[in-house]
Amino acid sequence: MGILDGKVAIITGAGHGIGRGHALEFAKEGAKLVLNDLGGSVHGEGASASAADEVVALVGERFPGTEAVADHEDVSDFDGAARLVQRAVDTFGTLDVVVNNAGIVRDGVVWKMSEADWDSVVGVHLKGTFCVTRHAAAYWYAKYKETGQPVGGRLINTVSGAGMEGNFGQANYTAAKGGIASFTITCSLELYKAGVTCNCISPGGATRIMATMGSSLEPKEPEDFDGFDPLDPSNASPVVAWLASDAAAHVTGQVIRAVGDSIIRYVPWDYGDEITNKGERWDASRIAALADAHLFHSRHPGLRTL
Ligand SMILES: NC(=O)c1ccc[n+]([C@@H]2O[C@H](COP(=O)([O-])OP(=O)(O)OC[C@H]3O[C@@H](n4cnc5c(N)ncnc54)[C@H](O)[C@@H]3O)[C@@H](O)[C@H]2O)c1
Repeated sequence: MGILDGKVAIITGAGHGIGRGHALEFAKEGAKLVLNDLGGSVHGEGASASAADEVVALVGERFPGTEAVADHEDVSDFDGAARLVQRAVDTFGTLDVVVNNAGIVRDGVVWKMSEADWDSVVGVHLKGTFCVTRHAAAYWYAKYKETGQPVGGRLINTVSGAGMEGNFGQANYTAAKGGIASFTITCSLELYKAGVTCNCISPGGATRIMATMGSSLEPKEPEDFDGFDPLDPSNASPVVAWLASDAAAHVTGQVIRAVGDSIIRYVPWDYGDEITNKGERWDASRIAALADAHLFHSRHPGLRTL
């Protein structure tokens, strides 16, 4: 018995790295899979069916009996994302889980970043996450309206430590990832009544993306590792499988970092220190005199009337 027995899941960007790890984990846990990958370069150039086809063959080899089909759509194409969702419903009769994972990088400091590099990275990550979510949410919401019952859908979107904390040279990527976190929290509010949970995973691993970040790291696939390794891109996959399962029906609107053997719940943007001005409009010079001591004074939020 697997924790995902019989669940129908779409995993985007499943051809390499972290998504490939999710595909293997979901197959191990009994899911039926639509494994999407456009098959382009790490910078988003080109396309090839081989990435998705290869991972379908791999899960079949490793977990014989797994029902899995390949999909080659570009997640940032609104109509392509609709076809991806429809493929799951047409192939397996329903859709339970969406893991938005596809990604590319085109790094550069903000003062040199081209419009094309901004658009393509934000396009794949933020718009791509929206496109697949949009069509899956429409499917889930229609099902909820028809049956009046919570549908038990699961949305897991992929962010990154860079997006949550900032990273030099990645303005496009971090903006997209921060946007995905906010988008997911809003989705969790909008889809709560329909019984759909929406969470984010912040993974890590020695993938093609990681290898672009100025290191001499060799990109590896999950099946290249033997035993536990902190750089294995599949280390976050059990967390994603748990979030996708019935066991996590009560978990929504969360951002969870899973790197190596560590699992951390991100504390979301929250109010810090506050100052108020006795019911009066503030004056800029007074703020200048007080801000350092009273707004940035403590890591612990508190209200001071000055
Ligand atoms: N590797 C890390 O340390 C790390 C850390 C934090 C977050 N992430 C995130 O994890 C996700 C997976 O990245 P990875 O490191 O495994 O990289 P990867 O390059 O190995 O895998 C990304 C996959 O997405 C596919 N893809 C790209 N554009 C697509 C599109 N438009 N439509 C469909 N598929 C597309 C690629 O072909 C590729 O197979 C990304 O969202 C990335 O931002 C990675």
